[in-house]
Amino acid sequence: MTQNTQAFDHWIRTRFVALNNELEHLYRLQADRANVEGVGDDLKAQLESEGRELIVSLLAEGNTDEGFDHAFDLLGNVGLYMAACRRHEITEPSRERVSPLTEASALAMHIGASIGVTPRFATAHLTTHNRAQGGLYKRFTDLDAEKLFVDYNTKGILAYKRAADALLKIQPLGIDHPIAYDLLQVAKQALRDVIDSNRVLFQELDADDFFYCVRPYYKPYRVGSQVYRGANAGDFAGINVIDMLLGLCNANEPGYSQMLVDKFLYMMPEDQAILRDCMRRNSFMDDLLNMMHLRHEPWYQNNVKLFLEVCALHGETAIQHHNELVTKYIAEPSKTMEQQHMSKVTASGPPLPVLLNSLEKLRDRRAAVYRSDIKTRFDDVQALTASLEAK
Ligand code: HEM
Repeated sequence: MTQNTQAFDHWIRTRFVALNNELEHLYRLQADRANVEGVGDDLKAQLESEGRELIVSLLAEGNTDEGFDHAFDLLGNVGLYMAACRRHEITEPSRERVSPLTEASALAMHIGASIGVTPRFATAHLTTHNRAQGGLYKRFTDLDAEKLFVDYNTKGILAYKRAADALLKIQPLGIDHPIAYDLLQVAKQALRDVIDSNRVLFQELDADDFFYCVRPYYKPYRVGSQVYRGANAGDFAGINVIDMLLGLCNANEPGYSQMLVDKFLYMMPEDQAILRDCMRRNSFMDDLLNMMHLRHEPWYQNNVKLFLEVCALHGETAIQHHNELVTKYIAEPSKTMEQQHMSKVTASGPPLPVLLNSLEKLRDRRAAVYRSDIKTRFDDVQALTASLEAK
């Protein structure tokens, strides 16, 4: 790490957090907690100028070629700064055509393009690739709600990744291999871990604190002239690896492939490679449907039964995400929010009903429920289930 990188990292871990804390405190004192206009203007000016000064030195330093990890980390720091400026409406993409954070944009675009990721902060920066120092990892604020949210996003992502890794290991063996059973067991346990961790998040996270003080840091912002959507916990390959290997979602369905295309650059390059590879593969569901004539074999009975349990658990995580997390923390608080702030609610930009509609479709594909308007694996899951009973 160069001295300039170190100085910026130190600022992000200390002063930046203190300024965000103070601003959050001031917003909270208002009757309309969502308003940020005309509040703490001196603090906002300090945040912008202190960050800018550190970034100017980094930009002048140029590419110091210290490898991927450092470049990715620095991009995260610039991104946290730009996201906080957006949260405090120091910048506002609908007000501007180009980000007024000229130096930060230049640095972010330089790094993003050179390492093959989007030039903004992504989920990995705060979760799976967030280096702790003395037990403390990077965050926007000191608020309990933010820590809880990031902790449980990290736990959820890591558990999904464990499930995905186990399923990927079945690929070279084949779903009819007796040891595929062991790997399905690992995936099953990992998905149970997702459910347990989501449950704690749902019970513990304060809905208002999340909605008013955490979520706003995940809004879209401009880098240079382009607006980049907000980060969300889904920006890793594992969840889609599970979808596609199980066969619950298919990369050639327009709604689903649109989401994959949109998320590629929000993932780490290694995740991009995994997802790309996985998009070319057959699903276990299709393989098993082609083996139904072998239903009397013991391996078939064992593996199909467990495969269906894994599918059901994956569906359960999706139902939980939508019906509990999205409903409690996004949809319901949005209803009570002042209309003037409504256009700014989601991280990805589309109006809330559009976002909820696409999340519902994802949920129903994963849960393989019957829908007349989109393709789900309802019939195929029924057929495999029946093949067990017909032993
Ligand atoms: C308070 C908790 C959470 C809320 C309110 C929430 C809400 C959302 C919303 C609204 C989206 C749509 C993207 C957008 O707004 O731009 C999304 C996407 C996503 N979230 Fe969450 N989320 C939460 C926690 C989690 C956790 C813990 C996980 C587990 C890893 C997770 C996994 C995903 C995934 C995979 C996506 C991408 C869409 C998909 O493939 O389903 N979320 N989330």
